[in-house]
Parts: sequence; structure tokens; C-alpha cells
Amino acid sequence: PELSTTKSKKKKRKRKRSSGSGIDKPGGDDEAKALFHDEDHPGGEIPRKKSWEEHGPKSASPSSQHPEDVGKQHVTISMPPLAGMFVKERSNLPVYRHRKELCHLIANNDVVLVVAETGSGKSTQIPAYISESSLLKKAATLSAKSTPTPSSTTTKTTTKSKTPHQKYGLTISVTQPRRVAAITLAKRVSDELGCLPGTLVGHRVRFDDTTDLRGTITKIIYATDGMLLREAMVDPLLRRYGVVVLDEAHERSLQTDVLFGVVKRAMCARRRDEKNDDGCRWVNGEMDGVAMDTAPSLEKDVEIINKMRQEAVNLGIPPLRVVVMSATLDVETFQRFFPGSATVKIPGRQFPVQEVYTEEVQEDYLDAALKTAIQIHKYTDDGDVLIFLPGQDEIEDLASLLKTHLEELEPDNTPSTQQGVTKDIVQNIKGIGTSVHSGNTMIVNGVLICVLYAALPPDAQMVAFRPKPEGCSRKIILSTNIAETSVTLDGIKYVVDCGKHKSREYSSSTGMESLKLSNISKAQAAQRMGRAGRVSEGICLRLYPEIAFDSLEETTIPEILRVNLAHVVLQLKAMGIHDPRCFSFLTPPDPDNIVKSFELLSALGAVDESLELTAYGKEMSKLPLDPVFAHLLLQSEKFECVSEMLTVVGMLSAENIFFRPGRSGEDSGGLASVGAAAHRRFASHEGDLPSLLNVYNAWKKEAIYLQPGKSKKLEKKKLSSGKMLHGDWCKQNFISGRALVRAHDVRSQLSELASRSVERNGLGMNVDSSCAAEMTTFFKCISGGLSLQVASRVPTPEQQQGSRLSKAGKSGFIPSRGQYKTRLGGNFVSVHPTSFMFGRNPPPKCVVYTELLQTSKLYIRGVTQIREEWIDEGR
Ligand code: CDP
Repeated sequence: PELSTTKSKKKKRKRKRSSGSGIDKPGGDDEAKALFHDEDHPGGEIPRKKSWEEHGPKSASPSSQHPEDVGKQHVTISMPPLAGMFVKERSNLPVYRHRKELCHLIANNDVVLVVAETGSGKSTQIPAYISESSLLKKAATLSAKSTPTPSSTTTKTTTKSKTPHQKYGLTISVTQPRRVAAITLAKRVSDELGCLPGTLVGHRVRFDDTTDLRGTITKIIYATDGMLLREAMVDPLLRRYGVVVLDEAHERSLQTDVLFGVVKRAMCARRRDEKNDDGCRWVNGEMDGVAMDTAPSLEKDVEIINKMRQEAVNLGIPPLRVVVMSATLDVETFQRFFPGSATVKIPGRQFPVQEVYTEEVQEDYLDAALKTAIQIHKYTDDGDVLIFLPGQDEIEDLASLLKTHLEELEPDNTPSTQQGVTKDIVQNIKGIGTSVHSGNTMIVNGVLICVLYAALPPDAQMVAFRPKPEGCSRKIILSTNIAETSVTLDGIKYVVDCGKHKSREYSSSTGMESLKLSNISKAQAAQRMGRAGRVSEGICLRLYPEIAFDSLEETTIPEILRVNLAHVVLQLKAMGIHDPRCFSFLTPPDPDNIVKSFELLSALGAVDESLELTAYGKEMSKLPLDPVFAHLLLQSEKFECVSEMLTVVGMLSAENIFFRPGRSGEDSGGLASVGAAAHRRFASHEGDLPSLLNVYNAWKKEAIYLQPGKSKKLEKKKLSSGKMLHGDWCKQNFISGRALVRAHDVRSQLSELASRSVERNGLGMNVDSSCAAEMTTFFKCISGGLSLQVASRVPTPEQQQGSRLSKAGKSGFIPSRGQYKTRLGGNFVSVHPTSFMFGRNPPPKCVVYTELLQTSKLYIRGVTQIREEWIDEGR
């Protein structure tokens, strides 16, 4: 492992010429030597040469500056010792030894790329270091000093009053692709800094914001990348922030990729030294990768960015610092995108991991994973096991198979979940109460089986992170690729990798998006393997032959190249970007995909013929929803069913409302059929959307949702009203309480946004309008709102035969699951087995759907029966 700090190529060449030292390090050669101090001793405990920290800030002598940096103020940073809780744990993390160097680099470079192993402390520590250091304060004072005399264009407010950043100081934004990571990191960092969550450190994810809105208190915000993007729609300069940290950059999630361009734009506009504009092609007119026919658009964008720059100057907004962090970063791509950026590689603590392959291709990877896990448990004494599987279904299936097999392994011991003493252990694991509803976290013969996937509530996920409870000899974690990089799991000795994952894919020719089971990349395989070597030597068992590994792609294809871009295009348009085709994307998407997105937006009425955002499109962009659902909600006003549509959209936003314990009745002791029967009580004949409505309404009517601090009052109310407690109700009905509460929260927030006045950036809708008395309008509304997602029944030969038979007056109609053809794209699809419409006999003629899903075959989900004539009526 090596620690290196380099500038990207362009600057590196120049620097070498000027210093002759061969070491390329902003801030001085002394420092550069110090930064290499521990190359041979990654463990950190071995005596080492003096670090930069010990040399002190003097070493950042201006005389050793790069000529390009002369004139640029070099900032020296002071750093107090760690305080608060967990000082020992924090100072043991690999990033700790580099904290001053990191802050120094961030203070003196527009962009710093940080590459360090998962668990080395990037996400929790680096934002805290920035906050603990004098970095932000310095940035704010520097800006105040260098603020030029306001030009004639300066508004009255800016000359007279201080801007928020001058009044309250600057904030750090740390973005995460996953909401669970944002929430848990904010909590962890609050604990470490000894403050209450939502004060100094808060999280901001869709429909859940614990930060103070004015920016007076919260100084570190862990947000999903989508949330920062929404903020950029209102404030493209991101003026509240002094540093934006883009975490998990290697994941190349759609929103993170867009954010790279948006943040780069803000950074360029906030730069003071115009000479240093090489990273911003809007300003210097560089046109790498931009089609010539977009040149006029480019000029328009230059105009826009110049306006932003003027505004930044007038308001005295300090430069924006950007930190890009990852466990496995494709450094070259990022250095090309952010020329002049500095790179820091921090070695982690990694023990050797042996790679083992199967001899033959395993068609049934679930069975192979099961056998491997059982063998590990049978033939080794200790060490936790992490099994990577593609999705929640496979995870839950394997969990129940494992349970059965582990029980059989030692027939003397009945499963601990059924024994008094071990049941206590189960209940002692904090959060297990919620994990029970996932159905599969259990202790069987001393083995704790945990599941881990993004849709699982944070508390239930926590079981996998906690130490094993007493009496457990081994932990087996079944996880999606969430455990590849975004979470830290200690104690894993065996990794079992099925080599597959599920990813969204979009075809711009059909306009169709699907969830596909596909092979992982070599980079992902390496990350998975790395999970095994954190605490001791490990073994990675790949459930595929070596030759299959060799044929894997080197890196994962960025999401932006795989998904529908309608939402992104709408967001970019709302941010004032004239032509998204010449937006600075880290990897430009297929222009055809952007054109297709414009077609969809145009069909929804969001853009006009000249592709400018219409007033309706502006309204749509205010809703944090996919354009189709935003359209559905906006349409509901016309049909006076806003209340119902808010519920439906809220329920659709919360994944996995229905708890399906195992898939076979046998495995789950009959629970699966009990659960299915419970769910059928909510089923509407018309299909899934009205069924969701039924669940929500029944819950509201029959259950009390206990809010913190209100329990006693409501307990009393329960007694008098005859309502059940929320938890009991959910358990009885096999409904995920968490998901329901989330749906309720989403609904409340959408409702707030929809009812807020237009002047206050809301939509001014009447959110109480309801069609409960006449549901036809609701169906008309969804027919029109989802008119681009209509499928018509294709009679199967059996049905044709059946109808001939019935016409002939004979019985013998052969039931069919119904084969449908989508209107858009003409794809043949089937109703997904989780839909209430599955197996409906006879299948309805015409349906709308909310999701198209490709697994073993092409499925539709969120299926609702409509009448064809309603499609036009509803438009
Ligand atoms: O970002 P990176 O993977 O480099 O590390 P991190 O997330 O900052 O984690 C550093 C340490 O903090 C790990 O050893 C975790 O055990 C701990 N941590 C935690 O206890 N709770 C969290 N929510 C996140 C991290």
C-alpha cells in the first residue's frame, strides 16, 4: 500500500519543471516529504518520521509554491486535538494521521480526490476534520477581505445586509447515494462530536430533514445526492456551502454523476482567479466532447455562468471547495474532469485474502451459496460470513433455506428463536424488534443470520453491524451490493460472491427501463473480496469459474448510461441549463437518451416545441418525484382527487409496504399463506393502486400511530376509541410499519409542498379535494396520468379457445395469467406475482402500470384496471 499525494497530470508536468524535486505537492516540498512518511508502515503503530502535523504549518512556505499558485493566497489551517466522544476510536482510524494534510489540501485546492479503503474513516472523519479545523472560518474571512466593491448591478440587499454565509458561516455538505448511509452517518458523527442529532450535524434525505433551514446551527449536512441537486435548482451557486464532499464517487449513481457537473459549475462561478478556469468549459469555451450543433447552446450557457460569477462576486461568496471520496476511484477520469485537482491515497489496513473459484458455472447460485455457507460453518471454527446476492428476494429465500439447513445440521438443538433463553438474546439485540418484520434475522444453533439491503429500515440493518450477541459463534450476513463499499462490517472472514447484481437499465430505442440481473464488474468483485480482510486473513469464495471472472467488465457502467434521463433533464432545465446535451457530464450520456427524455417531457407537457420548460414543467420540477408521478399528482386537481393521489404517490415512494414472510408456505411454517390472506383483505378488484389506498385508509381508521412523546395520551385515546396500536395493527396485517410510516411522512410533506402558495415556491393546490364518494374520477385520473404506461391484454391461444368454448355454451374456460402488450414500445409483459392483479381471471382488457421490470421475464407492477375510453378523458 502506498500513500501518495499528486496533482493531476496537467499541473504535475509544470510543477516538475519548476521545483525539480519530482514530488508534486501543493504547499511545499517539506510537506511533500512528510506526506510520504509512512509508506512502509501502513499499520500506523510503527515509529515514523515526522509528519506534516508535527512540522507544523510553517512548512507551507509560500516560497515553495507552484508558479501557477503565486498570487493565490495560501491558507494555513489550525487544528485542535480531537474532542467529544470516541476519541480513541477516532484516532485509530487510518485517515487520522492525515487529518491536517487533508485539511491543508482542501483549503488550498479547488478539488481534492481522496481514495481510501472502506472503513478507513472517510465519511465520518473528513467532514468532522473540516468542521473542527479553522478551514471554513478562514474561507469566510478570506472572502470578506477579497470581496470587491459592489458593482452597479449589486442589489440593495447585498450592499446593506450581510449574506447568510457572512452572518452564520459556511456549511459542509456530504452527499451519499443511499439514504440509509446519510441517516446513519449523521447519527454517528453527532455521537462522535458529542452533540444531539439535528444540531451541529444533521441529515437531509427526501422527505426527512433534520437540519435547521436557515443554516445557523447545522454545520455538517449528510444529504442524499438528490437532495443537494434539488437545492442547486433553487440556488445554483450553492452559496450556503464552503465545502461539498461527494462521497462514494465510484458508485457513479445517476444523481451523483449529475451533481459532479452541477458542483463543478458552482465551483467555477465562485472562483476568484479567472486565470485558473481550466476546469470550466463554459467559461473558457473548451468544447471537449460537445457536438458542434450544440455550440449556440454552449454560448447561452456561458452567458448563464457569467451571470452566476457576477452574482458570486457581488455577494462576496467565497470559493467552493470540492472533495471527491471513494474506496476505488477511477482517478484518471476524475482528474480529466477536474483538471488541477490534488489526489490523496490513504492506505487501509488490509490482510491477504485468498481467492477461490468454482470449477464449473453454477446455474443455481442460490443453491451454491447455501452449500458453501453450510460447508464453511461445518468445517471451520469461527469467522463471520458475508454472502453477496443480487436482491431482496434472493436474500430472503436464502435466509429461510439457511435456517432450515442449520436446524438439520444439529438436530439436537431446536432453533433458538423458539427457545426461551435464546429468544431473550434475540430480543436483546437492539433493533431486532423491527428486523422481525423482515422475517429473516434470526439465531439458529448459535448462528446469527442477518439480512442487509437498501429497502430494509435502518434499525433492522443495524443488526448486521453490531457485535454478535452472547451465545452466538458466528454471524452470516446476506447482503446486496450495499455491503460492497457503503457500509463497514467488521469481523468478516469469508466472503461468498455470487457474481451478480441487479441494476436498472434503459433502452433509448424502446424508451423502456428495466431491472436486470447482470454480472458484476471486476472492480466490484475486488471490493467484495476486500470485505474479508479487515481484521485477519480471509477467503473469498467466488461462485463462478476463474475464466468467468476474466471476462467481467473492468468497471461498472455508470448509471447515467443505463437509465431513463427524463427526471435529470427536467432538473437540469429547472436549474437554467439551456441544453442538457452540452452539460458538463463526467461521462456524457447517449444524446438519443436525452432526446427521448425530451419526448417524454413534451408528451407530459413539461417542455414546449423549442424545448423550453413550460409553466407546467416548472410546477413538475418543484415536486421531488419522477416526472410521471409529478404529472399524476398535478392532474389530480382537475379530477378533485388530490387527497387520494397524495396517498397513492406516498405509498409508491415507500418500498415494500407488504411484508411477505418467505415465499413458500413450507419454509415459513405457513406464514406466507397467512400473510397473503391478510393482504387480500385490502385487495381492490381494480388492482394495486386502489389497494394501496385501502391499506392506508384502513391504517388511518383503525390504528394509532404513536409519535414520540405522545404515547400516553394516545394510549388513553386507544382505550376510548377502540383503535389498535400501530405496531399491533401492522403485525396483524403483515404490513411493514416502517414503510407505512414513511409513506405517511412522504404524503404529509408532499401535501405541504402542494398546498403551499405559489409565491412560497409551492403549488397552491387544494389538498383536501377528495373523490371518496365517486371513485370513477380517481380511475379516470390515473388513466390519463399514466397514459404513457398503458398495456392491453393479448388473448392467449387458450383464452381464444376458452372463449370459443364458452360461446358454444360449454364450460372449460382455461385460466390464464394474462399476457399484455405495452402501448409504448409494444413489449409483451406479464403481471408480476406480487401484484393483486396476478392470476385475475379473466384478466382485465386494459391496465395502467407504474413499473416495468425485467427479471426472468418482463413484468409490470403497480397494475390497475382501467377502461380504454378513460385514457383520453383523463388527459
Ligand atoms: O467512509 P469509510 O468507509 O472510509 O469509513 P467510515 O464510514 O467513516 O467508518 C469509520 C468507522 O466508523 C468504521 O470503523 C465504523 O465502524 C464506524 N462507523 C459507525 O460506527 N457507524 C456508522 N454509521 C458509520 C461508521
